[in-house]
Amino acid sequence: MKFQVKDIKSKPATVGLVLCYFAKEKPSVHPLYKFVTAADKKQVERLFKAKEFSSGEKQSQVILGAQKKKILLIGLGEKKNWNLRHAVLAARRITNLAKNYKVKSVTIGLETLAASGVSSERLAQTVTENMVLADYVFNQYKKDKGEQFTVNQAVLAVSKMALKSVSAGVKIGEVVGAQVNYARDLGNTPGGEMTPTLLANRAKEVGRVNHIKVTVLNQKQMEANKMGAILGVAKGSSEEPKFIIMEYYGGKKNDAPFVFVGKGVTFDTGGLNLKPEDHMLDMWMDMCGGAAVISALGAIAKLKLPVNVMGLVPAVENMPGGAGYRPGDLLKSLSGKYIEVLNTDAEGRVILADALTYAERYKPRLVVDVATLTGACMVALGAQAAGLFTPDDKIANELLTAGEISGDYLWRLPLWEEYADEVKGTFGDVQNMGKSRYGGAITAAMFLYQFAKKYPWVHIDIAGTMKAVDGQGLAKGATGTGTRVLIELAKNYK
Ligand code: BES
Ligand code: ZN
Ligand code: ZN
Repeated sequence: MKFQVKDIKSKPATVGLVLCYFAKEKPSVHPLYKFVTAADKKQVERLFKAKEFSSGEKQSQVILGAQKKKILLIGLGEKKNWNLRHAVLAARRITNLAKNYKVKSVTIGLETLAASGVSSERLAQTVTENMVLADYVFNQYKKDKGEQFTVNQAVLAVSKMALKSVSAGVKIGEVVGAQVNYARDLGNTPGGEMTPTLLANRAKEVGRVNHIKVTVLNQKQMEANKMGAILGVAKGSSEEPKFIIMEYYGGKKNDAPFVFVGKGVTFDTGGLNLKPEDHMLDMWMDMCGGAAVISALGAIAKLKLPVNVMGLVPAVENMPGGAGYRPGDLLKSLSGKYIEVLNTDAEGRVILADALTYAERYKPRLVVDVATLTGACMVALGAQAAGLFTPDDKIANELLTAGEISGDYLWRLPLWEEYADEVKGTFGDVQNMGKSRYGGAITAAMFLYQFAKKYPWVHIDIAGTMKAVDGQGLAKGATGTGTRVLIELAKNYK
């Protein structure tokens, strides 16, 4: 989708004209209404009068107007409830409506979506980004692409004053939207075509295009490095594990970097603790944390953010092979600590342990790991919020804000010392499962914490937000969750 920013005084040239209304607003209040032909105005006003369109109820209506024009009426609900979250959904609704009615190009009066406390740059970014996200389809594996229709062009019409900041926001939104969609592509690609080697190749490609240094450690190199945790998980698979290292230097040479760590389990069968069938189904998406990290680095480089950011993705396949690791195995991790494997299906935390230790060498200002870590987090928070864990209240608030603004919504769960006993090992130092059945997302985070004591650290559990659910206005499959909040963090760096 191509975006353009235009003065709202100039006559729209697109097929579609998008008119957004709050409850009780009259058609004529819209700044673009004067461009509607007299005959079409009659239709609009009839729909309003007959209550066939209600702006108070988040309804939509499409009018087939004169000269092959289409008018898209979008109800926004009560104005007093309006905020950036609603703008996210409205941008997606507009796009989906345009797709359904095969409207190739649309003009939107951006300022009619303005929310209090939100800059015009941010509003433009959010609307652009979410139109790009709603336009996404994953159809690489359909010979018959069917009637998949996407919108070609969106014009954001604004007053002269806002032209500059809105253009800046659109540019950012285009990059972020495209990169989130890239993460969705990586997530949606089936496990057989997204092995650790193939994921590493994608990371290299992102590096080549965006001038990011990418190094991939193979099994031998990991053995030399003594990354026993990653190697342990990988043993059951015939696919070679890879450790992906991306290094973006946009800041000053001595600026302490962000290190983003993403779980890259390209398929999670559970290992010898094999998952039941229905639980295994989505597990080609178990590398979505890695996808978020790879895509976020791509975006950060494209936006030329003046900050240093490292990306680390331990990539493995968790298979129940004859050589696979077993319950009871004691894996010597890179940190030197022994991990007592009580369940081979809790593999994410095991591979992340080595990556978190590896992160120490960068003397990071902040390490953020993103992982489809626990079904328990899904049980706790559902599909609308990812779990946020950190011992630091200030950083927690920073992340909550970044999550809220970026659209990757987060909710904090406790990481108290009281939980530490849950992961204390019997025969090893740390065990990879809690001692009770409860609080599984917390015990997983507590496990990670044992390897992340040497720097400020945040863990984001994206198991619940990995897949789109009804009402989000997104195509079925991976959401690209995590990508946006990572970009937002790097963007806010001062
Ligand atoms: N990849 C799964 C977690 C997951 C579940 C992600 C559902 C997305 C959707 C993870 O490796 C796992 O299997 N975790 C176990 C841990 C348990 C064995 C302690 C879980 O959550 O059941
Ligand atoms: Zn698992
Ligand atoms: Zn997993």
